[in-house]
Amino acid sequence: MLNHLNRSFAVYIFSYLLVSAVHGQQQRAPSAHTLRDRFRDDFMIGTAVNARQVQERIPMETQLLATQFNAITPENVMKAQSLQPRWNSFNFEQADQLIEFSKKYHMNVNAHTLIWHSQLPRFVRSLQTADSLKLFMSNHINTVAGRYYGKVQSWDVVNEALNEDGTLRKSVFYDKLGENYIIEAFRLAQAATPGTDLYYNDYNNEKPAKRAGCIEIIKKIQAAGVKIDGVGIQGHWHLGQLPIKDIEESILQYAALGLKVAITELDIEVLKRNFQGAEISQRMNSDPSLDPYKESLPDSIQQRLAEDYDALFKLFVKHKDKIARVTFWGVHDGQSWLNGWPVAGRTNYPLLFDRQYRPKPAFYKVIDSE
Ligand code: G3I
Repeated sequence: MLNHLNRSFAVYIFSYLLVSAVHGQQQRAPSAHTLRDRFRDDFMIGTAVNARQVQERIPMETQLLATQFNAITPENVMKAQSLQPRWNSFNFEQADQLIEFSKKYHMNVNAHTLIWHSQLPRFVRSLQTADSLKLFMSNHINTVAGRYYGKVQSWDVVNEALNEDGTLRKSVFYDKLGENYIIEAFRLAQAATPGTDLYYNDYNNEKPAKRAGCIEIIKKIQAAGVKIDGVGIQGHWHLGQLPIKDIEESILQYAALGLKVAITELDIEVLKRNFQGAEISQRMNSDPSLDPYKESLPDSIQQRLAEDYDALFKLFVKHKDKIARVTFWGVHDGQSWLNGWPVAGRTNYPLLFDRQYRPKPAFYKVIDSE
């Protein structure tokens, strides 16, 4: 399989140069390095993938995915809404396809996510009692984490349980089960998939107040004698506003708790929006000024994006002893959730590869970062 891939990668390079020549863009030929080669001694380099990608519908997309990355995270197909649409009725088709894809291309799977207040099956919100919600949690975690035991490298056990001020989010789980639902979720995951790395995952948990709340959760899990192996900093950041100091301080403080740190959903927003983070329930009204680069991204912005990614990867390499993984929230700009959030139908450019699967200036900065 890999010889076939190397050959077709050569084809890809040739077609890439052809496309660049046709586009009259005198780009430097991409370096022989791939992201997975460049960082193989530092940390895993991953991407979020969707159902179409693991079904290999677009050969050039599959090629890019298989040659650049050595870890994948299911963008949506392993969320409760996808896996258990009705009480105790599971649909594993797309999640199983993702596992087969990971085996075929020798990739680690970082499964996402067992317990999250969003993308929950409709029936969960209509559960009346704490006992029925507890039963949902134990049945879901046992069934799902049990099924993929030995097939995934890590699980985001609980996702986004905190408010920006570090207090616990008043989710359906918190309201009915109290704060202990988090410890119980990790206890259940530890039993269902022993030896798999168990993560708490959130956005903005590099910011001091939310970091303090995150550390409090971790310490309570550890104090209960329950296994937690890592913390995920999602990394949905903004062009020119990277909280480098907060990120570094968070890497140090989380590692000091004996945990692995992962950057789990990296992208850098280049379009305007008036709030940080990834609160999926937030929206903005569409306005032409919020979608200024419909045709292409100006070189000046490309360069700024490249500078930002360079600064991030210099920090990640500096702390490679603490960082287990860096995962982009998408393979290329065309896939990014930021094309549809918080304003529907925008043309965004937050990743390293463009809509024609070509490496952007940011890719070269990252590949060449010392
Ligand atoms: O599957 C349905 C499809 O049947 C329907 O035709 C289509 C049209 O409405 O919607 C499809 O569902 C969409 C789903 O993605 C799959 O594409 C949902 O509407 C859409 O809301 C959902 O968006 C996902 C979002 O999480 C939902 O919360 C994004 O793709 C995904 O990138 C995003 O990822 C989250 C992480 O899990 C957690 N951290 C933040 C991150 C960004 O919000």
